[in-house]
Amino acid sequence: MRIVVHGGAGHTGEVQDGVETAADVGWKLLDEGADAISAAVATVVVLEDDSRFNAGTGACRRTDGSVQTDAAVACNDGRLGTVAALEDIANPVQVARLVMDEDFDALAGKGALDYARSRGITPAMVAGSEKPWAGDTVGAVAQDASGAIAVASSTGGVSGRPVGRVGDTPHWGGGLWTDAGIGIAATGIGEAISRRLLCFRVAQQVADGLSLAEALEWGLALYPADVCIGLIALSDSEGAGASNASMPWALRQD
Ligand code: GLY
Repeated sequence: MRIVVHGGAGHTGEVQDGVETAADVGWKLLDEGADAISAAVATVVVLEDDSRFNAGTGACRRTDGSVQTDAAVACNDGRLGTVAALEDIANPVQVARLVMDEDFDALAGKGALDYARSRGITPAMVAGSEKPWAGDTVGAVAQDASGAIAVASSTGGVSGRPVGRVGDTPHWGGGLWTDAGIGIAATGIGEAISRRLLCFRVAQQVADGLSLAEALEWGLALYPADVCIGLIALSDSEGAGASNASMPWALRQD
């Protein structure tokens, strides 16, 4: 069993305690027998509820001052659930988790909000963060005792982007990827991540023989230094995190 968690590329190390707390919650669940999906989602909920992070309650604001969030959950059994441009939901990762069990993969905007409401999630005003956001996205990758791997991510996006803009977080292969023996989540400037299909290509490097750490460095090397990027990943044998900027992250494994 293992779980790796991040609090956003570009975020200060001063919030490392929040990432450690989230990792402890996910690890305790795994230790008690929870499946990888439950552990990854619960870990991300902890970070969404901590307003120091750019997700859920602390999500950054759009050009008009509104808050819109994106989230994704995937399992290497082939299921994927994503939401985009979701408003008035404190824990968008929980909506993505519900979508995961539907016969569609993605919901956006009003449809996502209506769906959340129909599934018993009560909308609430999400004020978001007043500060121009320096850190980005939160995420977790967990592997449970059965060997299943799940990835969960949540974000307020990038401060100052327009209403309706969707970044990499719900972008399959870009912002997240999981397949047999691997799970990867990205953080950073979404457009740069999506355009390079970052998580899928990093997974291909592992399939071609690189270690997890080498593959993450391969991914970071696709970018100039001023494009803030981070990655976390698990394989069947190791966990890793890497960023070209400050990125609080934590790993628990047995
Ligand atoms: N990485 C989050 C975003 O660009 O929206």
